[in-house]
Amino acid sequence: MKKSISMLFILLCLPMSMLAQSINIVPMVNSINKNSSNFEADKVFIISKAQTLAFEREFLVQKIKDGNFNVKLASEKRGSSIIELKLNEKLSGSERYILEVDTKKITITGSDATGVFYGIQSLLQIFEGKKIKTLTIDDAPRYQWRGFMVDESRHFFGSAKIKETLDMMARYKLNKFHWHLTDESAWRIEIKSYPKLSTIGAVGSWSNPNQKAQAYTQEEIKDIVEYASQRHIEVIPEIDMPGHATAANRAYPYLSGGGVAAHPEFTFNPGKEEVYDFIEAVLSEVAGLFPSKYIHIGGDEVAFGIKAWESDPHVQALMKNEGMTNVRQAERYFIARATAIINSLNKELIGWDELLDIDADPANTTIMWWRHDRRASLEKSLTKGYKTVLCPRRPMYFDFIQQKDDKWGRVWGGFCPLEDVYAFPDNDTKRWKVTADDMKNILGVQANLWTERIHNADRFDYMTYPRFAALAESGWTHESSKSFDSFKQRMQKEYELYDTMGIYYFDHRNPLSHPEPKGCEKLDVHIPLDFRD
Ligand code: ACM
Repeated sequence: MKKSISMLFILLCLPMSMLAQSINIVPMVNSINKNSSNFEADKVFIISKAQTLAFEREFLVQKIKDGNFNVKLASEKRGSSIIELKLNEKLSGSERYILEVDTKKITITGSDATGVFYGIQSLLQIFEGKKIKTLTIDDAPRYQWRGFMVDESRHFFGSAKIKETLDMMARYKLNKFHWHLTDESAWRIEIKSYPKLSTIGAVGSWSNPNQKAQAYTQEEIKDIVEYASQRHIEVIPEIDMPGHATAANRAYPYLSGGGVAAHPEFTFNPGKEEVYDFIEAVLSEVAGLFPSKYIHIGGDEVAFGIKAWESDPHVQALMKNEGMTNVRQAERYFIARATAIINSLNKELIGWDELLDIDADPANTTIMWWRHDRRASLEKSLTKGYKTVLCPRRPMYFDFIQQKDDKWGRVWGGFCPLEDVYAFPDNDTKRWKVTADDMKNILGVQANLWTERIHNADRFDYMTYPRFAALAESGWTHESSKSFDSFKQRMQKEYELYDTMGIYYFDHRNPLSHPEPKGCEKLDVHIPLDFRD
């Protein structure tokens, strides 16, 4: 008796994280009560009365038809077990769901359709054969922004790979797909009013300057945006400016503001009205294609090419007219004009943390903090009230290597192992010099896949998985429910899935079993481990 009382005491004192670990799911849920009975079914009948859940219902039906569960779909209620999908707008918090598994019925209640969709994703992961333990999960995300960026300028991967990535984002409850579509190597989106962008501008890649033109047509873009939106993923397009504009300048040379030897024709010219006409036309088409409230305009690394502005007659004329004393002011002017265009299209500006250096308007700018070595920038962003997404190079750049033996990828005073992605941002916040109130400006976390050193699907996979799953948990799961040991155990099932899907992942359990894909040796040098920022 004494023994069982003390056992009960121990059980009652177990932290939620330990209880939660007994469920095989990624990302870990934030609250769970497990019982000892089972839901067991041969046939299930799906009830969903809300019209707004039509896609979610169909998604679940399709998964059952595809054999995701070892159960059949019943055509009538009688004699079947039930899965009910419903909405309860009184449930506080967006994206929240309650998944209740009874012996005869499974109910998924969402605070909104996204919550219901995530409840289905959780159910898909925990159903084993015909069975599932009776339980109640009450789950909602830690951060509203759980993002992933893919750079398709340096290398183009195409619709099928992007859709596969969106499917995996949905599995992992990641909800922002940031699509880096323009840069030095190529321009990848059709713009009807400037057709040479997707012909001349789309030729080439980082590894092959003669690669034939590859760009998404507007129909393909719409198809991907729709595919993402059904999976509750917002697509944020990035049209990088005024730097990283090389491909656009190749198509329309009169737009160029010059560059430097290592980055020729790198910038748009802030002194030419034709440039603003171009930007207005491009962003108008972009605004029509992407329902997101954001347009990302980059704003990064303009300094690479800005020296050319000091001798460009158009920039100099602008500076004289506006009483500017240095080219940074011309950069600020350019961003202010681009912001006005974005706002006139009823969109909001999002960009890289260089926008802080030119004091962009905090009320009108969301910042992506990427320069991990510039903590002061992060502090400025948070304390000045900029909404901020955390995607520091370390550990959130997936083009950085993930183990010291990897040869191709970036290493800057360290690299980005799975453990660090998993621990982020909890391994870091203690060092930020901001108040709890300032922390409210953090929208969430994002990982970025730059593709200079990623030239094919195998390398895409190798650099993305399993860090993708760690990113999911860093965005979704509260610190109190996170445990790297538990994560590693739960990843066994994910590796099996990757094997089934033919995803060429980095195998954290046994790195040698999937060697680093070759073929990119010439793309870039391996930056030695002792390199420091
Ligand atoms: C960046 O990595 N240039 C945002």
